[in-house]
Amino acid sequence: MTWSQEVVPAEHQDIHTLLRDTERLPRHIAMIMDGNGRWAQERGRVRIDGHREGMESVRSAVKTCSQLGVRYLTLYAFSIENWKRPVPEVRFLMSLLESYLAREVDELHANGVRIRTIGKTNSLPKSVQRMLQTAMDRTKENTGLTLTLALSYGARWDLARAVQVLAMDVRRGKVSPEDLTEETISSYLQTSYMPDPDLIIRTSGEMRLSNFLLWEAAYAEIYVTEQLWPDFRSRDLYRALSEFVMRERRFGKTSAQVAESSGESPRTTLERILHALR
Ligand code: FPP
Repeated sequence: MTWSQEVVPAEHQDIHTLLRDTERLPRHIAMIMDGNGRWAQERGRVRIDGHREGMESVRSAVKTCSQLGVRYLTLYAFSIENWKRPVPEVRFLMSLLESYLAREVDELHANGVRIRTIGKTNSLPKSVQRMLQTAMDRTKENTGLTLTLALSYGARWDLARAVQVLAMDVRRGKVSPEDLTEETISSYLQTSYMPDPDLIIRTSGEMRLSNFLLWEAAYAEIYVTEQLWPDFRSRDLYRALSEFVMRERRFGKTSAQVAESSGESPRTTLERILHALR
């Protein structure tokens, strides 16, 4: 049975249908999955137990986004700075990634998910690189959710890499400095195949972007929850999305201008959501 044929749990049905049918859902959600270590420590367990439990939240986020019809989900799974962690923890995270790919790709593929990566992936262990490549090749024609794993990723690293390639293209005469626009820069980033994120969710209460999608996040709504990543499940995603659809995104315009050009007002959406939750 595919995810779209599954019955959403009764307690989530109203909000799920409402969110799925609203035209205000984000096209692209990016997530900073933070708090695995604290989740484990709070329970007197070792940090890797938090990562293991965090993987269940990854499963839940992917499935819920896919069922809602979200087009792009980007997960910050391993930052370029994470290489500084103790070797056993890094090893564990790599093995978790391998087991995620080994266990999940069939199901992801069956549900039309396209897998991609961003980041300095050539520094990952060769076995992980091979599994990622196989997963990407296998799912590349899929037209459902695009799931991007940010691995060994850093936004400044990607910007510096893009500027280097761009500078070489300028030297070769492929790009003229006068024609260099924001769109040109975006097209040189590894994220060029996806729209900018509309919503960035960060768990565990920290108010920072931690070198994640710095250029792309220019107009993103940011949702920070105190919850730790292993506790963040579909109920919490619905809550984040409910808040998102009620926010007014102005992109520099006034409220009146926004109301003129958009369909339903955030207020009407809010009323419908409150009605569904009653
Ligand atoms: C941050 O928590 C989390 C990570 C560095 C790793 C995220 C990995 C997963 C959720 C599991 C594997 C993911 C995939 C896609 C298979 P932290 O360790 O920094 O927590 P802390 O701030 O409480 O110490």
